[in-house]
Amino acid sequence: MILAASMKNDLGIYERAAQAWWDGSDRTFRSLRQVKAFHLAELDRLFGAELRGASVVDLGCGGGLLAVPLAERGASVIGLDRSPRSVQAAREAAARAGLSRRCRFTVADLCGTPLESGAFDFALLSDVIEHVDEPAIALREAARLLRPGGRLYLNTLNRTRRARWLAVALAEGLGYVPRGTHDWRLFVRPEDLRALAAAEGLRCDAVLGEAPRLLATLVSGGLEMRRSASTAVSYTALFTKTEVSA
Ligand SMILES: C[S@@+](CC[C@H](N)C(=O)[O-])C[C@H]1O[C@@H](n2cnc3c(N)ncnc32)[C@H](O)[C@@H]1O
Repeated sequence: MILAASMKNDLGIYERAAQAWWDGSDRTFRSLRQVKAFHLAELDRLFGAELRGASVVDLGCGGGLLAVPLAERGASVIGLDRSPRSVQAAREAAARAGLSRRCRFTVADLCGTPLESGAFDFALLSDVIEHVDEPAIALREAARLLRPGGRLYLNTLNRTRRARWLAVALAEGLGYVPRGTHDWRLFVRPEDLRALAAAEGLRCDAVLGEAPRLLATLVSGGLEMRRSASTAVSYTALFTKTEVSA
């Protein structure tokens, strides 16, 4: 019997399951919703009032789980995603929140966006870079879009055995994230990310470790995160654009 190779980094999930982004009763994106709640609290802690009135580009915005709440905080947000149905879900969420003017969405490849250079105070690459074949190009695009002094907020998975075991074997095996979501070979070590970002004129200001809250995760049925001294599973990296990129 020939078994089909299981798919990894299956980006079709975001198109097929797009109706589930904001559906609290659906488990497909429950972990992402809960991880985004943690990331939003971190964005508030790190940047607070700076977000009010800021222009933000959310690269790989999915269903707008960060974009819409950031617009609620007074930011002016453009979200881009390669999945048309996710972009539609994000537009509908913004409309439900009465934020369609402040929070707009476009179908585009984040590695080559149609947006103006230097137009943004903040760029987000939140749980995205581990889905992209060439992270250097994604970082180049984020750097191009930021004004000098603008900030890049990035979350991703580390390329460790622990991350592979937790994020792929356990999380996908137990249904905490859809099977086929990740390919551990695309996970990025913080030191590699720093080097790639530096080449694009992005200075690394901080690398902040994150880890799952195991008991809360078991109880809620979706990943719950906390800050951690260790970056062995996942981490947030903060960068500032130092130069005008080509
Ligand atoms: C794990 S989801 C994260 C979504 C969102 N950033 C969040 O944190 O809720 C990854 C998203 O990246 C998008 N994506 C992956 N590669 C992309 C690319 N090259 N261009 C645009 N979007 C991309 C996928 O369609 C998906 O919506």
